[in-house]
Amino acid sequence: MAAEVGFPGGELLTKYIMVFMLAAVAVSPAILAAHDFPEGAVPYEKSRRCSACHPAVYKEWAGSIHAQSSVHKDAAHRAIYGAFLDDMKSEGKEGSYHCATCHTPMADNVKELVDGTDKPNENLWREDEGVGCAFCHRVDTVVEGKDRNSFTINKDGAYISSNPVEKAPHGVGVSQLFASGEICMGCHSHMENQDGVAICSMKEEGQGNCIACHMERKEGPPSTESAKETHASHEMAGGHSLVMLCRAVSVNVKINKTDNSTTVDVEITNKTSHDFPSTMPMRMAFLKVTAFDADKKAVFRNYQVNPMEDRKAVFMKVFRGGGEVGVPAWKAGGVALDTRLKSAETRKFSYPIPNDGVKTVSVEIIYRLFPSQALEKYRALKDADDKSIDTNFTLYKKDFPFLK
Ligand code: HEC
Ligand code: HEC
Ligand code: HEC
Ligand code: HEC
Ligand code: HEC
Repeated sequence: MAAEVGFPGGELLTKYIMVFMLAAVAVSPAILAAHDFPEGAVPYEKSRRCSACHPAVYKEWAGSIHAQSSVHKDAAHRAIYGAFLDDMKSEGKEGSYHCATCHTPMADNVKELVDGTDKPNENLWREDEGVGCAFCHRVDTVVEGKDRNSFTINKDGAYISSNPVEKAPHGVGVSQLFASGEICMGCHSHMENQDGVAICSMKEEGQGNCIACHMERKEGPPSTESAKETHASHEMAGGHSLVMLCRAVSVNVKINKTDNSTTVDVEITNKTSHDFPSTMPMRMAFLKVTAFDADKKAVFRNYQVNPMEDRKAVFMKVFRGGGEVGVPAWKAGGVALDTRLKSAETRKFSYPIPNDGVKTVSVEIIYRLFPSQALEKYRALKDADDKSIDTNFTLYKKDFPFLK
């Protein structure tokens, strides 16, 4: 089987090549947006190539957001990129696909895409791959940059991970970057816009081991040749996964009734090790509290139509710029408000409801990848062929009987 796969250099490496890498983190003097792919390095392999021997891992990756991250596959990303280009055009400038650093890191022309001398091309498979297997597993170092990080890729094409393996039909290596999640921070750490405003800042919001929560052990061996019974899941789920969202918070509800007043008291605690929602600035979550009478008619709502009516119960980050609130990342001059829950933070809410005639109280926490307002503003987002864009993900819902 190995022979038909054709590995870098064409040879079958049966020797156990163990390269202990020091997880050096260099700091770039200038903004370094392209990845350092050394002269004469072994070309990247297609992710599909790995599927014959790593079927479980391949399947998870193929269904993950990392496999859909390119402008050719992710409708939401394409819509926002389009809106960015339109805005630039209206200001007489030409926007570049600077998104390539993280969204299509394997492209041969990352540098040209970033500086605007080239445009995305759907016929180039290395763009289509998104965050492919060979990209992550060939990362030698994370190069820290001011507006974003970049990577140095190995020259010999060995696939690096956290565990030493006995025998593989390709070069392997070991690096601590893969043990804690430092590899993740290569792209997830931070991004600043052209005016130096922090758009994403996981490096400030997040602690903890990303891999522990985002790559849980799943049943099945990591390769067809392995005797192990479990492997690290490559689904790397987040906001697109209701299962993952349901793990984000814990909720405590009490209905406090005295002779002349009743309140619904809700406590929400962020169980993740970063802000909730995290980290992409358009994500939002909100609390919905409804009291029903015996005929199931709502006699109390914390908001009527738009969750923003109860602003303190909306968790999100909003930018300001040019005297406006609610501007996109590229127009941001600063943060207007950031009401997301910090890691381990508990926030308390208390709603007075009618003292009589209430039968049940329903408490819900709803998450959206994009606020409805953004869908109104960006036509392409609304028209995109992706249902998740306009979905209310209910990550918590419970009905409480109203005790007399
Ligand atoms: C011909 C079969 C074959 C193909 C194709 C293949 N691998 Fe492997 N790979 C193996 C075997 C066998 C091992 C050692 C497995 C073990 O002992 O768990 C291994 C080990 C690894 C490891 C180290 C695993 C660990 O436990 O830390 C990584 C990382 C890896 N492969 C990545 C890749 C990537 C990425 C691709 C595709 C670009 C790929 N492999 C393609 C057979 C293959
Ligand atoms: C520094 C790396 C980096 C750069 C540069 C970058 N992104 Fe992203 N982007 C990410 C990461 C990481 C995520 C996922 C984070 C999250 O969801 O919280 C993401 C998520 C997104 C999403 C959400 C996608 C979805 O399916 O919901 C959109 C939209 C997006 N980016 C648009 C862009 C656009 C447009 C550009 C360029 C103008 C860009 N990004 C540049 C790293 C980057
Ligand atoms: C080469 C850059 C890169 C690296 C390295 C990387 N990511 Fe991502 N990640 C992205 C981009 C880009 C997106 C957003 C893709 C999109 O939605 O279009 C993303 C999205 C995600 C999401 C959101 C999934 C969802 O449902 O919306 C999670 C979770 C995630 N990454 C976790 C990780 C973890 C854990 C690691 C480390 C093991 C990691 N990432 C390494 C670029 C990267
Ligand atoms: C976003 C970065 C990223 C991508 C993309 C990625 N991996 Fe991994 N992979 C990791 C990290 C980090 C680990 C180490 C997890 C650990 O040690 O718990 C890992 C572990 C592995 C292992 C060892 C698993 C185990 O449990 O022993 C194999 C094999 C592997 N990856 C193969 C692949 C293949 C094949 C693909 C594509 C189908 C792929 N990886 C895509 C980051 C990535
Ligand atoms: C204690 C468990 C835990 C740890 C540790 C953790 N996360 Fe998460 N993460 C979650 C949960 C649960 C979610 C789903 C809630 C959400 O999307 O905000 C999530 C969501 C995400 C998302 C998805 C955001 C989106 O817009 O779809 C990204 C990206 C992410 N985490 C990256 C990371 C990175 C990078 C690290 C390491 C610094 C990390 N996480 C550490 C539990 C964790």
